[in-house]
Amino acid sequence: MNIKYFGHSTFIIEFGGKRLLFDPFITGNPLVEEKNVESISVDHILLSHGHGDHVADAEAIAKNNNATIISTYEIVEWFQQKGISGHPMNIGGEWQFDFGKVKMVNAVHSSVLPDGTYGGNPVGFLLTNDKESLYFAGDTALTMDMHLLKMFCPTLQVAILPIGSNFTMGVSDAVIAAEWIGCDQIIGCHYDTFGYIKIDHKSAKDAFAKKGKLLTLLPLGDSIQL
Ligand code: NI
Ligand code: MN
Repeated sequence: MNIKYFGHSTFIIEFGGKRLLFDPFITGNPLVEEKNVESISVDHILLSHGHGDHVADAEAIAKNNNATIISTYEIVEWFQQKGISGHPMNIGGEWQFDFGKVKMVNAVHSSVLPDGTYGGNPVGFLLTNDKESLYFAGDTALTMDMHLLKMFCPTLQVAILPIGSNFTMGVSDAVIAAEWIGCDQIIGCHYDTFGYIKIDHKSAKDAFAKKGKLLTLLPLGDSIQL
């Protein structure tokens, strides 16, 4: 698995031999200097909820790549009206894709699309195949539902958790989430982009390390091979 960070909650993850784009927010991200959305090549786009800081570049990238959007029924329908193909799901459901199985799991947040259209409930994604497993939490609070992850996937390889607080979990709650899901390899997201979610990197890493967890904060454009 290769995980490349594009800032905020945007990642391209090579999983099961496919390129999966999560929550594309590039052109609007004040921290991104090279806003080169045209060069991005992906097979599928996974959207956790409808907020602009998660879907802003999905339309352009989907059209450039003829990529499928995997999201809630409401979000997929909204993109289908723009001529983009999608696979609609809802919480608790799972589907076998060409890269592995996706289980849509609960997130505690809100979800409305940029034009005010209802986006359904916000979600997280649990991805598994023979060799790899990944939990992308989306924008969420710490929630008891995270205990279910251990049952769904007892040996979770890596989790991408929001740590910026204010709109989502902050570091201390994300450390608890990491314990509940039984994952030692955590990649942070949804921090530093705006004033409300600026964090201290060292104290965040220390908080995870105290519980035997490794928090990786990828510099923009960097990737990690797992
Ligand atoms: Ni949000
Ligand atoms: Mn957000």
